[in-house]
Amino acid sequence: MKIFIDTANLEEINKAVSLGILDGVTTNPTLLAKEKSEPQTQIKKICAVVKGPVSAEVTHYDYEGMLKDAEELSRLAPNIVIKIPLTETGLRVTKILSRKSIKTNLTLCFSPLQALLAAKAGASFISPFVGRLDDISHRGMDLVCDIKKIYANYHINTEIIVASVRNPLHVLEAAKLGADIATIPYKVISQLLKHPLTDIGIKRFIDDWRSLESFLKHKSNSGS
Ligand code: G3P
Repeated sequence: MKIFIDTANLEEINKAVSLGILDGVTTNPTLLAKEKSEPQTQIKKICAVVKGPVSAEVTHYDYEGMLKDAEELSRLAPNIVIKIPLTETGLRVTKILSRKSIKTNLTLCFSPLQALLAAKAGASFISPFVGRLDDISHRGMDLVCDIKKIYANYHINTEIIVASVRNPLHVLEAAKLGADIATIPYKVISQLLKHPLTDIGIKRFIDDWRSLESFLKHKSNSGS
């Protein structure tokens, strides 16, 4: 499973790049707003440090506005993917972009049928939001399972990005279901790595090594 980071924060992106586990980035207007910098400049900086796909979202919701946003964003870098909300206008724009071989990520997906339509319109990626479904007492991962099944039935190659990931169990379930990608906030990436038995194991190695060193030092001092 590919791992994307769900952030527009360069420090977090650089940390994930340095771990050698990062395959791409997803941003959205909320994440870019947190950075308090000019959004297109921020997106260009992100594209300069990550080779994989970087999703940048349109911020107009009418047809002309959305298409103009998409064309502007697509010129920022070769690895830009245009993130588009799953609406009627979004599908129309997706179809146009797909004909121009511009990659798209259809976002705010909450139903398998939305995902089917996105794929038919030519979406490169689909982003089911699992955390937000869990928030309203629907099983977010069931949506991923349904999309996976439908896409397999029809040999659809739109890649599934599990989004709105809130905890390590979302990532585990995504991998078990065979999702193509999980886009994960930095905090959750750190949680994936942590295990108390790893920390306890390292502490024991350090303590035992120190006690060997002090034994050998004592032995050599006493000349025996
Ligand atoms: O990838 C989508 C993500 O940014 C939304 O996450 O936690 O706001 O539902 P969240």
